[in-house]
Amino acid sequence: MPKPKVLATRPLFPEARQILNADCEVEYWQEPERIPREELLRRVRDKEALVCLLTERVDDELLASAPKLRIAANVAVGYDNIDVAACTKRGVAATNTPGVLDETTADFAWTLLMAVARRLGEGEALARSGNWKGWDLDQLVGTDVWGKTLGIVGFGRIGRAMARRASGFQMKVIYTDAVRAPEETERELQAEFRDMDALLSESDFISLHVPLLPETRGLFNAAKFSRMKRSAFLINTARGAVVDESALVRALEAGEIAGAALDVFEKEPEIHPGLKRKNVVLAPHIASASIETRTKMACMAAENVTALLAGRRPANLLNPEVLKTA
Ligand code: DGY
Repeated sequence: MPKPKVLATRPLFPEARQILNADCEVEYWQEPERIPREELLRRVRDKEALVCLLTERVDDELLASAPKLRIAANVAVGYDNIDVAACTKRGVAATNTPGVLDETTADFAWTLLMAVARRLGEGEALARSGNWKGWDLDQLVGTDVWGKTLGIVGFGRIGRAMARRASGFQMKVIYTDAVRAPEETERELQAEFRDMDALLSESDFISLHVPLLPETRGLFNAAKFSRMKRSAFLINTARGAVVDESALVRALEAGEIAGAALDVFEKEPEIHPGLKRKNVVLAPHIASASIETRTKMACMAAENVTALLAGRRPANLLNPEVLKTA
């Protein structure tokens, strides 16, 4: 029996390759640059499975050029790069990697929060510059984190992991979400529900943890920034397009908010030039980038593929309807 053919748009990690290679004939895209679109469309043509990154668009065009495709396995929890409805229409399973990156992502959101509050980027640049003249009383004074109010937008697994970190800093935690968390969760995390307006006006730090959906695109816009405290900071490790970047730049320029720390951007890898300011900490979409977590994500995607190809239900299936019609 020939093994099913799989395309992986990255070499992945050895642990994930081992899972895939055991049951499949896998073509790995090895080049240092991201797979060009035409190359992706060409290589996926004879494949039954695709292991892809959030940088690859899985849309109707790709699906049309891959008549044998049975599964698109994203190595990411966010799947706004995948047109799930189009996959469903063509009977292609779509999967993601939830659960394994929550703590790692929250660690990094916390890192950004601390860095922007305590001006770490500026301090690091000064320390390396050779221009540091020594300790001074008012040098690079930032703002305290401990004891402040953290506003969490999106109280899913990562939002809740942020709340747990805040308790060590004696912070007040408030959150908003389309669905209010159970009372028991609020009690355990000492988090209070607020509507968006109240969260905007009370928070010293606002951390975003919502997926990119039509209703969250541009959620943080000029109107939202104008309701935040002038001393408040915005942290974004969710998706760039949840924030209207031009509006954010205008709010920063006008001093409507104190600063921002961003891991994600509207048009990655482009970064709005107006964001390259001292009171903005920038990172290249690395919140989940620990070797442990990225390995788990790759293995999870590999397991989703091998499960489906073996006739089992993948653990992280986004469109279970495809199995019913199979
Ligand atoms: C995701 O998984 O959606 C992140 O953005 C990358 O880890």
